[in-house]
Amino acid sequence: MMVCEYQPGLEGIAAAQSSISNVDGQKGILEYRGIRIEELAEKSTFLETAYLLIWGQLPTSEELKEFEHEVRHHRRIKYRIRDMMKCFPESGHPMDALQASAAALGLFYSRRDLHNPIYIRDAVVRLLATIPTMVAAFQLMRKGNDPVRPRDDLDYSANFLYMLSEKEPDPLAARIFDVCLILHAEHTMNASTFSARVTASTLTDPYAVVASAVGTLGGPLHGGANEEVIQMLEEIGSIANVRPYLEDCLQRKAKIMGFGHRVYKVKDPRATILQDLAQQLFAKFGSDKYYDIAVEMERVVEEKLGHKGIYPNVDFYSGLVYAKLGIPTDLFTPIFAIARVTGWLAHWKEQLAENRIFRPTQVYNGLHEIAYTAIEER
Ligand code: SDX
Repeated sequence: MMVCEYQPGLEGIAAAQSSISNVDGQKGILEYRGIRIEELAEKSTFLETAYLLIWGQLPTSEELKEFEHEVRHHRRIKYRIRDMMKCFPESGHPMDALQASAAALGLFYSRRDLHNPIYIRDAVVRLLATIPTMVAAFQLMRKGNDPVRPRDDLDYSANFLYMLSEKEPDPLAARIFDVCLILHAEHTMNASTFSARVTASTLTDPYAVVASAVGTLGGPLHGGANEEVIQMLEEIGSIANVRPYLEDCLQRKAKIMGFGHRVYKVKDPRATILQDLAQQLFAKFGSDKYYDIAVEMERVVEEKLGHKGIYPNVDFYSGLVYAKLGIPTDLFTPIFAIARVTGWLAHWKEQLAENRIFRPTQVYNGLHEIAYTAIEER
């Protein structure tokens, strides 16, 4: 066995072999199954991209129709899950509600029939179909309202926006939201995907895999940063305050949310596309007071930290898009999860195909041979 030295954050350590996605962090390139993200954002839909990531190739029109049909017809959640969610405190974070609800699916569907393709397909469809319904249901129930039933005549993204507001969304808004889901669907061995693969490697059920990944995504160093970016823009409040705010952060060695990445040393290609989507929304629905502050932040951060390779990541502009779509700030990270369940499921399948349980080692730096001290002598 090869013995490796301890690497904080496992930087540079390969944890798996994967053919799902690829990042070139120097050139700012992201590919899903070899296809550039820019091309998918322009030409694909979220469900088609999900199919590509999970099943390995673009679907034929028949395959896509069937997949869309299956997902559409599994959108409803069991009334017991809905009733369980009703008991969640309305002050609880929607990511916690989502983690608990995703885990609860395992109470109903856990057979762990991991060698059966029908079980795998069923779990993939069920998770893709019900996670948006659970996010929307919690949003309405915490306001004291009944959840809105999914609409079979609406496609994936339009239906989610409809379930949040009970209004049929504008087609441009629905398309832009769908592109956001494409952009967030997968991203190599990020923390939540690693978490998903570790959980998968124990051969537990896919609902536990997704629940563990949701818990990991929620932290502010990962998916939770999108929520913090909006709070930061609100706190900055004006273009004039950008420089003093950032100088204060740098002096305190505080992390600037929405900037920096373990792999990208240039601007994240997803941030470029999200910035463009935000501009499309502003052109149709009116400008946003925080956008100019964000652009000035990007300029000053590049001036101060560009030499360290610190540029906007996926979480920097996404919140501006969601806010313009009328989505509450604390749903930004659950929306990231709606998209990323795709990547987690793709990695779950890949992990099962060549599974070995994750069991790394550690560098022990504690004591040895210490005598037990009786409690009255401590
Ligand atoms: C996501 O991994 C993925 O692929 C994740 C993701 C996905 O799609 O799954 O892309 C989604 O999680 C995006 C990242 C969202 N998080 C944030 O925006 C939080 C702010 N960013 C950072 O905390 C940080 O950049 C990370 C967590 C994203 C990366 O952390 P690393 O690789 O461990 O880097 P580090 O914290 O060790 O920083 C290295 C250097 C340090 O300076 P030095 O001590 O070497 O002088 O860069 C500096 C850091 O201080 N630095 C920052 C900074 N990010 C890094 N300084 C100020 N602000 C920042 N945001």
